[in-house]
Amino acid sequence: MKVIKVKNYEELSVMAASIIGAQVINKPQCVLGLATGSTPIGTYEKLAEAYNNGILDFSEVKSINLDEYCGLSGDNNQSYRYFMNENLFNKVNIDKENTFVPDGTASDSEKECERYEALCASLGYADLQLLGIGHNGHIGFNEPDSAFAAVTHCVKLQESTINANSRLFEKKEDVPTSAFTMGIGTILKAKKILLVGGADKKDIIEKAIYGDVTPEVPASALQLHKDVTVIYVAE
Ligand code: PGA
Repeated sequence: MKVIKVKNYEELSVMAASIIGAQVINKPQCVLGLATGSTPIGTYEKLAEAYNNGILDFSEVKSINLDEYCGLSGDNNQSYRYFMNENLFNKVNIDKENTFVPDGTASDSEKECERYEALCASLGYADLQLLGIGHNGHIGFNEPDSAFAAVTHCVKLQESTINANSRLFEKKEDVPTSAFTMGIGTILKAKKILLVGGADKKDIIEKAIYGDVTPEVPASALQLHKDVTVIYVAE
């Protein structure tokens, strides 16, 4: 595991975008595993900047996203599909047909999970998976005590996650209570993983990467992967 400590959010964003950019340069047809949340916003801004400067070309890139709220359609501004369009896809030359997010409106959730996992498998999983982390150590929506072997599934969100995410909704009652998420097993299939966290995630990141490997801290599963880079703000 490669651990990079940075001074601030700007450095975190530049460094994460550089690693993702290098992936796109090295393999123009790569599959990027992407994440939502506050942390990657700066990274996506830097990637869009590099595209505008003619440094990056996303025309052959495919992407698979970690998760999506159940019940929200892609045009709902709280959906993760909407987030990805706004923060990255609309700003670069990626073909939206090549960008994949679980379908929050799917009526048969079991079938949607199977479809999404099969899709990820058919793409050979991510060449590089970007991950944020929750204060409880979750990655994607894999909350504490998730099985490390799990594939894409539908989860009931923990109260702490609903509370954390409610900042983005008008009222707490609007936060969906369940979501589709790649399982930890799906995430670990990525060839490379990049975990990023701001200053508020320092403690949980250090617990995840230096502590016991345990389902109580879902991100500790990353210790089992052979190619993980962690960038976090530690000052
Ligand atoms: P963030 O959280 O919004 O602080 O990036 C990421 C996460 O909870 O997975």
